[in-house]
Order: sequence, then structure tokens, then C-alpha cells
Amino acid sequence: MHNYYLGIDIGTTNTKALLMDATGAVVRTASREYALSAPRNGWAEQDPQLWLDAAYASIREVLQGVDAESVKCVGLTGQMHGLVALDGADNVLRPAILWCDQRTASECAEITERVGASRLIELTANPALTGFTAPKILWMRHNEPELYAKIAKIMLPKDYVRYALTGDHASDLSDASGTGLLNVARRDWEPEVLQKLDIPREWLAKLYESPEITGAITASAAERTGLIAGTPVVAGAGDNAAAAIGTGVASDGAAFVTIGSSGVVFAHTSAMRLDPHGRVHTFCAAVPHEWHVMGVTLAAGLSLKWFRDNFAPQTDYTTLDTLAESVPVGANRLIYAPYLNGERTPHLDPAARGAFVGLSSSHGVPELARAVMEGVTYSLRDCYAVIEGMGARFDVITACGGGSVSAFWRAMLCDALGVSVDTAQTSEGPALGAAMLAAVGAGEYATVADACDAIIKKNAAIEPNAAAHDAYSRVYEVYKTVYTANRGIFAALETL
Ligand code: XUL
Repeated sequence: MHNYYLGIDIGTTNTKALLMDATGAVVRTASREYALSAPRNGWAEQDPQLWLDAAYASIREVLQGVDAESVKCVGLTGQMHGLVALDGADNVLRPAILWCDQRTASECAEITERVGASRLIELTANPALTGFTAPKILWMRHNEPELYAKIAKIMLPKDYVRYALTGDHASDLSDASGTGLLNVARRDWEPEVLQKLDIPREWLAKLYESPEITGAITASAAERTGLIAGTPVVAGAGDNAAAAIGTGVASDGAAFVTIGSSGVVFAHTSAMRLDPHGRVHTFCAAVPHEWHVMGVTLAAGLSLKWFRDNFAPQTDYTTLDTLAESVPVGANRLIYAPYLNGERTPHLDPAARGAFVGLSSSHGVPELARAVMEGVTYSLRDCYAVIEGMGARFDVITACGGGSVSAFWRAMLCDALGVSVDTAQTSEGPALGAAMLAAVGAGEYATVADACDAIIKKNAAIEPNAAAHDAYSRVYEVYKTVYTANRGIFAALETL
């Protein structure tokens, strides 16, 4: 009989179940989509029941024709930072407030004031950001006091699904890192922050390293999913930490870049590294007792989609690549700043906005398309530079996400950053990472790094071209001045 491992990814747009065999081969995947609701401008919510229904249905589907006894362990991953609040009888008190919700600016200011800006980074490794969980808890306190008074438990999205599957109120350290309440260096909830924010520790989950077993499938969950009662479930990881495992990024020197809607530069580090300015996130890794550092560009692939949808709607992405490639590095003296929705790394400025600088009557779609792709790439170089400045190593970067399907964009990334870039042979990312953590938890592999070595195969890397790197670096120097030169204008625009 085969040994199988199940990974479940509670994403923002869908939940996916992935069945992997003991060699790491993906046997089958199934997913169910759901919507995100925006009751007000800048808000983003989801009813946690949607995740449960999607998880039950996709697990059932992926198990069709499989002997459920052969599933030896389950791993969970999902969207980070979301707030699920339960009352004493386990009722969900309100729709979950998601990672991309922007309502908590004043609560972030309150947290920074109560804890102290540098003390907060010292303790939690990160500043207070609107996406994080802690400011969402304070928002409920201020805006929904009757509901707030009933809170008995706080959970992250994937941990609510765990609660439904196993009855355990548990979380893993990578996901807990994004709450703003964890001491990321000590890998435990931070009492000073909890006390200064008046958040009771009893509300919070018991913490585990990612491959540790937190509980087992209950009889009622077995009935809903087709899994066998008693099947162990491991802690799992937040989506980026799990994606790292599913891309084979689990040791010093290994890193990945995602060009999805948003862009991420992620580097593994066995030593704790902190940016005193909080420009990148330092979170616990899914590798026990190790960390990762992560920079985020909010509008990466989204910038190109925005450009294409509005200015070249008849042009497919492959043609857009060809047009952009026909223009030299620097897009004939045109620079694009990708801050359409504000920016996290390196500016931490929700008021920042996009810009084309240097437009000329000679420019058309090819120059603008090239400038957009370069601008996103320079923004990723900003993330890379901050992380490198913290002493993390980049031997090779694995490119992931929709944008990295473009060989042209991958080559641009390689030349602009001046680092080798490869791709992984599977693109299953977080769900595969969660299944791999389950395999480690069940003892199929001794360590997370062993599982990565055995399972994740990479395609050959491309190497940077020195002349192209110099050309990109000259433009990058000018690009860096665009934000500083326009910061006052962005702030003034906010007041109009
Ligand atoms: C990480 C982050 C996103 C979410 C959504 O900080 O905000 O990656 O986890 O997927």
C-alpha cells in the first residue's frame, strides 16, 4: 500500500487539496473557489464557513478512488494574518478580516504608541502593519464592543480549519509571526506586547513548529471529508513559508521571488535577522528553529495587468513581452514606479502611488510595457537590497508566480538583480509545502531540508549578463530617486 500525504491550502480566492505520495510526486489536486467581500472601500472579509465547505469538498474530491487509510498525515497552510474571532460556544463572531484589509491605520498608530516603535520591532521583529492581526483585534474593540466582549478565542484562517478538523486550538510559528503578537526571536507569544495591548493570552493558540503534530482528525471531520478518524495533522505554515518548502527554499543561500499579483522576495536564514526600520518582514520559517526574511511589493503582476487591461486590452501577455523586448534597457528613458496601491518594502507608505516619469511623444505601448516590467523588477531589487544589507545570502533565486512564466521577465530579474535565477519543476507551491511538512511530521523524511532535497527538482539556472546588469543598475539609481522626489506629492494628493 502507498503512503500518501495531504496538503490543504486555505487561499484568498480558493482552497486547494493536494495529495502527494511518499516520493513527493503529486498524485492529484482539487480546489473550490469562493469570493472575497468588500463591505466598504478598503475592507476585505470572508465568512470562515466558506473555507470549511471548500476544504471538505476538495478533500473529498482528492480522495476519490484512494484508500483513505493510506493518507498518513495532513498539513495545513493558507492566507496569513486574517482574524477569526470565536465566542465561548465556538460561534464565529463576525466575518474574518483578511490580510489585504486596510481599515486599521489608526489601530496601527495606537499599537506603535502603546508599545513604542523601536520596542515593537525589537520584540516582534516587525512594525505594526494594517494587514497584521493585532490591529484587527483592536479595531473590533473600538468598533464592535458588543462582539468584542464575547471573544473567547482568536484564530488565523488555516487554524480555524484545523479547529474544525481536529478540535485543537493550535497554530504554527510562521503563521503566528504575522499576528504582531509573537516574539519571533524567542518563538513564543510576547507577554509585554499582550499586556500593553490588553489582549488575554488565553485567546491565543498553542504554538508548534511546522512539522509537529498538533492533533488528529475527529470522527465528525472524518465523516465530512472521507479521511479516517485519528489521521494526524501537523502544524503547517503560513502561505509564504509553505511555498518556500514547496519550492525547495529551506537553507541559507536559497531564496525565491514571486511575481504574482503582489511580488515577494523571500530568503531563508538559519540566523535571526532584523531590519531596525521594519522594511521587510522577519518571520519564523517552516524549518524548525530557523527564520525567513521577506520583502513585499504590493503591485507586481498587478501593475502589468492594470497596464494591459487599460491601455493594451487586445494584446496578450506573450505579445506584450515581444513588444517590451524590442525596446532597450531603460525603456528609452522612461521609468515606472509600481506603487499603485501604496507600498510595503521599502517605503512602508500606504499613500505612495504609481508614476510614469520621463514620458515622451516618442513613447508608445512597447516603451510603457517595458517600463512597467522594469519598474516592478527594480522594486524587487529594492527588497533584495534590504535583505542583502541584513546579511542574508542569495546563491540562487527560484522564480515563481504568473510573471515568472515569462522567460523575458525572468531574464530581466536575473540581469537586474545580478544573481542566478532558476525555476522549480512543480508550481504547486504552498499546498505541496504543506503536504511535505505532513510527510516530515509522519517520519517519512527526517527533516524538512531532507524532504526538500529529495522532492524538489529545479530546472537549470540562468546566469546574469554583466553588461546588462550594469545597464539596469544605471537606471535603478535613477528609479530610486522617484519615490523620494514624489513623496510630498503623494501626501498632498491624499489631502485633495
Ligand atoms: C504575507 C501576506 C500574504 C498573505 C496572502 O505577509 O500578506 O502573502 O499571506 O496570501
